[in-house]
Parts: sequence; structure tokens; C-alpha cells
Amino acid sequence: MSKKLWGTRFSKKTSALTDKFTSSISFDYRLAKYDILGSIAHAKMLAKQKIIPTKDAASIIKGLNFILKDVQSGKFKFDFQAEDVHSNIQDILSKKIGKAAQRLHTARSRNDQVALDIRMYLKDEIDEMADLITLLEKTILKFAKNNSKIIIPGYTHLQVAQCVLLAHHLLAYISGLERDKARLIDAKKRVDLMPLGACAFSGTGLPIDRGYVRKQLGFKDLTANSIDSVSDRDFIVEILADLSILSVHLSRIAEDLILWSTREFNFIDIDFSFCTGSSIMPHKKNPDVLELIRGSVGKIHGDLSSVLILMKGLPSSYNRDLQLDKPPLFNAIDTMKDILEIFIALFGNIVIEKEAIAAKLMDESLFSVDIVEYLIKKGVSYREAHDIVGRMVRDCLDKGKKISSLTDHELKKYSDKLKPDVRKILNAWVSVNLKSSYGGTNPALVGKQLNLWSKKLNA
Ligand code: ARG
Repeated sequence: MSKKLWGTRFSKKTSALTDKFTSSISFDYRLAKYDILGSIAHAKMLAKQKIIPTKDAASIIKGLNFILKDVQSGKFKFDFQAEDVHSNIQDILSKKIGKAAQRLHTARSRNDQVALDIRMYLKDEIDEMADLITLLEKTILKFAKNNSKIIIPGYTHLQVAQCVLLAHHLLAYISGLERDKARLIDAKKRVDLMPLGACAFSGTGLPIDRGYVRKQLGFKDLTANSIDSVSDRDFIVEILADLSILSVHLSRIAEDLILWSTREFNFIDIDFSFCTGSSIMPHKKNPDVLELIRGSVGKIHGDLSSVLILMKGLPSSYNRDLQLDKPPLFNAIDTMKDILEIFIALFGNIVIEKEAIAAKLMDESLFSVDIVEYLIKKGVSYREAHDIVGRMVRDCLDKGKKISSLTDHELKKYSDKLKPDVRKILNAWVSVNLKSSYGGTNPALVGKQLNLWSKKLNA
């Protein structure tokens, strides 16, 4: 078992229960790579500043590089009895290089180390997640471009509303995802601060060079207050909040696709490779992948709550409670990466049910707003136009008639402004073409947006 870094002061051995209860190695072993890289930079700085002999630093760095190789190849055997990853690596280093290892912890505390490790870990993970979001956006964009001539009935309140281009609907997803990515990238600014040198919490009298360590580790800046360095985890809360918003977006997209794949909608077919069956109902093809994407929001939001509650009311500076920030952080990031990965694959395999969609566009109530606007263009007030079309739609529904089948005479009864040419607008293409205000579903505008997104996402 790894040696305790603080054992000498204790007159008695800690209880086995305490060891088990306080240990974090079962989850923080994942930070080993960052812990070692941080230690290498720290040792280099200590030697440069003549705080430790160059010879000892060289031996420390050599030993750490050995351990790093083992960690990266998966050969390193973690001691799951150790208190944490920091103790475990320190212990192995001591066993490897002997006395020189005792100088590594000069001007450093595990409070600093863990803050450093999480920040390094997060910088990598943010980049990975941002890349995955871009990949998902590109997959959705490709799907939109491949189906740029498809019009679907759009819904508000889950009731048929108006015609929109499928591509327009899909670009709405990309708009949200792009903001999610921007939020994560922005949060990285606040993660990208190097905390080593807090020396537990008040700084040190030894002549350390924090700027040198910062440069070695590729951080943008230094944390400017030693207490803040070890005390706060607001950057974790921020990432979890960003992931929570992203997960809400993804669950809503999943919900659209689930609805669209039902027999009732029948807009799309989700590939068999992303569905499961029923053990009792042989006819079923269930969208379980999408349902689990939708359900995972609960996990990620739980992780955010968990860290927020953990932080609330903590006295300033480092407290051991902070150790518990990592399981929710790891869980949220792992879950999000799994979701993004499978969503990319699933989206790449969706098939559009063109005929079923086209049949739904026969519902002429989709054009009620177009008729209102037709009347407004002829000088009728908005209120009056709404009443006219309301009456017409209600009569048609009551009598099971189509608007297009009304005679010239019948049209005139609703308003003398309703001329035979109104029938021309009872058409999905005419309808989407009419929506030419900036941000609308007019095909030329949507075409421009598709090109803009292509350029942006491929830049
Ligand atoms: N395992 C601890 C954590 O994750 C490391 C820091 C321990 N510091 C201490 N003073 N006990 O926060």
C-alpha cells in the first residue's frame, strides 16, 4: 500500500474504514497523466530556481517519464488502496528512484495538484467535446443538404402549424448546438489558469517561478490568488451548466426524431442498427437509443446539482468535500461524449419518408396564415383577415371540404377580396417561398444559410 504523505504526525494508524472512506483513487486515477506532467514541469522549475539540486530533478523527471509511459500504455498498476492518485505516483516514484523523490513535493500541496490536474483534464475534454459537437453539426448539415427539397408540416403545440423546409428545421438544431459549443469554448478561458504555487493555500517563501510552470504546461495565465486557486470549483460548475444546456438541446432533438419516426408521423425511418425490439410484441422497432439520449439529461443535470450543492456553504479554501466534485464531472463528460458519438452515427443513417410527408402536405389548414397575408396585401386589416379565414377553415372542417374546392361564389361569400387566384397559394412550395423575411423558411434564404454553415463548420 502507498505510504501516507502525512503519516509521521499521526500517533496512531488510521482505521481501515477511514482509509476506504477517504480514498479517491478509484476515480481520480484517471488524472494520472496530468498529475505526472504537472510534476515534471514542477521539478524542472524547482531545479531552474535552484530550490532542488539539478541531479535530483533529472532523476525525478526520468522516473516520472517512465511512469508516464506505463500509464499511457495501460501497463501502470494503480494501487487502489492508496489515498489518491497523487500519493500513488509519489510512492511509485520513491520506489523507483529512491531519496531524490522526496524533493518533488517541495513548494507544493495536493490541494494545488488536484486543482491543476482537473484544469488540464478539462482543457482536453472541452476540445474533444467541441470537436464532437462540430461533427454532429456537420452530420446534420449534410442531412439537411441531401434533403434540401423536402418540405414538412411544422408544428407548434404539437398541432399542425405551417409548412417549413426540413433543412430550415434542421438548421435550428445547428444554431443551438453552435451556441453550446461557444459556451464551452468560452468557459475554457476560465479553466485555462495555472494554479500550482498556491502551496496548499497561502503561497510560499521559496523562490518559485510560477510563470515558468505555466509556460511548460501551456496555460494561458496564472490564478492570481492562492486561496482562490485551491478553493473554488466554479469552472467545474460552469462546464456542468454548459453540458446541461447542451443535453437539453440534444434531448429535444431526440424527441423530435422519436415523434417523427412514429407510425403516426412517419416522416423518417431510424435505421435498425440504432433501434431495439420488444421481447413480447414481435412487430416493435423501438427508438431506444434516442430515448436514452433524452433520458441522459437527468444524469447530467443531477451532476450539476451535485456539485452546486457540494459547494454551497463550504468555508473558504480547500476542504475535502471538494474531492467529490470529480465523479459527477467525469460522469457528465463521459455521458456527453457517448451521446454525441452515437447521435452522429444515428443521424448519418436517417431515411426520409418522402411520400408520407408529401401526403401530409395535402392538409390545407397549413396555408391559413398565407391566406390571411393574401388578404392583408389587399388592404384587409389583420383582425378582419383572421376572422374571414377562421370562418372559412371552420366551415371546411365541419363540412369535410377542402379550401381549394370552394367555388368562386363561395369564396366571395367570405370576402370579396378572395379572388380565384387565392387557390394558387394553397401549395407548400408557394407557402415556403412566401416566407422571405430574414430568418424565414424561404428556400433561397435557407440555401444561403446552408452555405454559410458549410463555410463556418468547415473553416
Ligand atoms: N483527493 C483529494 C481531492 O480530490 C486531493 C487533495 C487532498 N488534499 C488534502 N489536503 N487532503 O480533492
